[in-house]
Amino acid sequence: MTELISIRDFESAAREKLSSMAYDYYRGGSSDEITLAENDAAYDRLRLYHRVLRDVSERDLSTDVLGSRISMPVLVAPTAFHQLAHPDGELATARATAAAGTIMTLSTLSNCSIEEVAAVGDAPLWFQLYVYRDREATRGLVERAEAAGCTAIVLTVDAQVWPTRERDVRNRFHLPNGLQMANLMPAGFDEIRQSHSDSGLAHYVVSLFDPTLDWSDLAWLAEISSLPVVIKGIVHPDDASLAVEHGAAGIIVSNHGGRQLDTSVATIEALPAVAEAVDGRIPILVDGGVRRGTDVLKALALGAKAVLVGRPILWGLAANGEEGVGEVLEILRKEFDVALGLCGCRRCDEVDRGLVADV
Ligand code: FNR
Ligand code: LAC
Repeated sequence: MTELISIRDFESAAREKLSSMAYDYYRGGSSDEITLAENDAAYDRLRLYHRVLRDVSERDLSTDVLGSRISMPVLVAPTAFHQLAHPDGELATARATAAAGTIMTLSTLSNCSIEEVAAVGDAPLWFQLYVYRDREATRGLVERAEAAGCTAIVLTVDAQVWPTRERDVRNRFHLPNGLQMANLMPAGFDEIRQSHSDSGLAHYVVSLFDPTLDWSDLAWLAEISSLPVVIKGIVHPDDASLAVEHGAAGIIVSNHGGRQLDTSVATIEALPAVAEAVDGRIPILVDGGVRRGTDVLKALALGAKAVLVGRPILWGLAANGEEGVGEVLEILRKEFDVALGLCGCRRCDEVDRGLVADV
């Protein structure tokens, strides 16, 4: 095997191993995939004003997020169906993430159950929630996440209407025989069947997810769980303010990796106004297009406490299972360490706005 030294290398290696249905599902976005491309391109457009002569011999990449100390400001974003990448699925991802000293966010739509994944170790685990029309089934998920020891609920709010993901329509995306969504077995919502005219996932979401979800549902979540709630899928500063007013413990600036509203703003471009609106009241995380250590640094400079990565983790998992996920996280760690040092910083909290050129 050729040496894999960048996230892009892992994507190429993963592509060779995955079925085209799985690769397209992981890689793709909605409609013309403009936001998908923009998430990456917007990082590439930002230029850094590095700083010098500051003794950067000792560097500490660790930070705190919602009371957990993590070894670097990079978390694992929730992504569905890890067994499409590797038979060990989310268990492999959880082991590698714990070994890297950071937080995994487990998708509602994982193949392995919350309980199995939580049993991997004592690393903090967050649970990403999709709210089903069946609120009792949803309550069951939240209660199980809390009982299993998850330390936060990540409520995804940008998927109440499902867009066309053309790759998935063409491939008639479905879960192959033998793969289930273990968390949904009690409710009987654990399969994604092949549809003759559409993506099976689109059909699943439209029939089962609750499109009525609104701000008042945060009070409902607070009633059924004592876990902090992080709202994922915000790009507008007014929504960020509303999230704070409604008691969110944190925000993830996200456009779902370009998979929901196409032509939605690149997340790194949305971040500064969100940071201004939130004004330090709750931590802000950002995801979408983070592929280099310099991207992590840019996100911190523009107001994020940390970033999450989605696809890079799937590429690591597909290329080489648990070890591959570990290698992807180590590449990002090493690159961020270099970026930090070359910007004259020794710690995450020394990264400031002045490092990024105005565009
Ligand atoms: C996702 N994402 C996602 N988000 C979520 O809240 N629940 C989910 O189940 C999923 N599933 C999912 C599957 C796949 C294959 C992808 C690529 C993404 C969105 C994810 O959490 C995150 O917002 C993006 O992946 C971030 O962008 P990058 O890092 O992939 O560019
Ligand atoms: C996705 C869903 C499952 O992006 O969040 O595919």
